[in-house]
Amino acid sequence: MSLTFSIQTKGLTKSFGPFTAVDAIDVEVGKGEIYGFLGANGAGKTTAMRMLCGLLQPSSGTGTVAGFDILRETSKIRTRIGYMSQKFALYPDLTVKENLSLVADLYAIPRALVKERIAEAAERSGIQDLLPRRTGELPWGWQQRLSMACATAHHPEILFLDEPTGSVDPLSRRVFWDLIRAEAERGTTIFVTTHYMDEAEYCHRACFLVDGKIADIGTPHELKTRHQVSTLQEVFLTVAQLARRS
Ligand SMILES: Nc1ncnc2c1ncn2[C@@H]1O[C@H](COP(=O)(O)OP(=O)(O)OP(=O)(O)O)[C@@H](O)[C@H]1O
Ligand SMILES: [Mg+2]
Repeated sequence: MSLTFSIQTKGLTKSFGPFTAVDAIDVEVGKGEIYGFLGANGAGKTTAMRMLCGLLQPSSGTGTVAGFDILRETSKIRTRIGYMSQKFALYPDLTVKENLSLVADLYAIPRALVKERIAEAAERSGIQDLLPRRTGELPWGWQQRLSMACATAHHPEILFLDEPTGSVDPLSRRVFWDLIRAEAERGTTIFVTTHYMDEAEYCHRACFLVDGKIADIGTPHELKTRHQVSTLQEVFLTVAQLARRS
């Protein structure tokens, strides 16, 4: 059990028949770190994240999340993490408050704490005035903020965010990243995927995945220096070209 790392994997692999979606990845994410997991469509980001969350059985390799084994201790992992999936997973016909109440039940938040935790999660995400509103009627950026509130209401140690700002407008994306950074400042480890390279700049470290393999890892500054470019967008293009050539 690792005390230093929130997430640690060795040779983590997932194959679907003859196709290897995640190919022997070694990942180490420190406590309180904002770790960006980047790559093109189909690179294997969601597949890797689902294995880390205990939602998908790895084909081979090992790993720990919050110190627990991703093969044998998935139920312990699930109580310690928050997961915002790539597809909207809440109920559009329920109100914001009802969605938060359902999640409180799911994570077995003690009855005496439920009201306080819902209010706190809603306030942190800036949706406290929307509690009576029907979820499906809200603009997309606000629905994503509700998803964030739902993923954090039980105070997880590690937060997995799979493209939380997909299809969100630029202003709402900025606000969303303020929420992510505030969560990290409270000590939560953040494992986040995004296709927006301006957002990747906010990460403490970024990991580029190409065709299921790790192509490079570093701080935004290290990556740009190593590849002699000025943006992570250029790093993205360079590592993809280099990986495919080798
Ligand atoms: N259940 C499955 N059965 C077969 N192939 C799968 C399955 N799940 C994922 N894949 C394949 O694995 C590859 C990686 O998919 P994954 O969804 O992890 O990529 P991603 O990096 O999250 O992409 P995106 O940026 O589009 O979300 C893709 O080629 C996908 O088609
Ligand atoms: Mg994905």
